Amino acid sequence: MENYSKDKIIDILNLLKYMGFDKVDASLIKKSSPVEELENEIRKCTKCDLYKERTNTVFGKGPIDADILIIGEAPGREEDIQGTPFVGAAGKKLDEMLSKAGIEISKVFITNVVKCRPPGNRNPSSYEIMKCNPYLIKQIQMIRPKIIVLLGNVALSLISGEISGITKTRGKKLMYMSYTAIPTFHPAYIVRNPGSEKIVIGDLKQVKEYLFAK
Ligand code: URA
Repeated sequence: MENYSKDKIIDILNLLKYMGFDKVDASLIKKSSPVEELENEIRKCTKCDLYKERTNTVFGKGPIDADILIIGEAPGREEDIQGTPFVGAAGKKLDEMLSKAGIEISKVFITNVVKCRPPGNRNPSSYEIMKCNPYLIKQIQMIRPKIIVLLGNVALSLISGEISGITKTRGKKLMYMSYTAIPTFHPAYIVRNPGSEKIVIGDLKQVKEYLFAK
């Protein structure tokens, strides 16, 4: 959106007055919400090189007052094209596992550690994660979820600082910022290793029980 200077606004108002308008209905002036502002800021981001090859930034999807915040890794090919997280095969698997755990998808906000697709779906680098992290922190502060689910090693690295360790750490309650966070396997891993699906469903059931007990 274009920003007008105070002088320019006064010129426009004077012009309207000259044309015969004597009132401005302030309720007609659309102000963007903090969420829209953050989304727009991300859309214009050039803080790391990922912007050069992206089709779309991927902000996230779901209600901004969701109880559960799910954090994945980074947009893949389909997500980059559509500008929405988890719309490919891993997304279908995630929806399926949430439903098997009794969690309604409409109650969950889903986003990623980085908001642009790393070329060839490689892991985002620590530099890219660091540059994108303020956006995720702002999202968490807006959503204020009751619990966070970290999908896979990249999301777990927000806490551990290392892109490894999910097998040992999954299912444990950790803290990220001041929020309870449960890491579990990434759904893309489950697509390749369907035998571990019940482990993720168990971790998600733990998330549901935690909310129920709150
Ligand atoms: N994998 C992720 O981590 N995030 C997506 O949005 C899609 C696939």
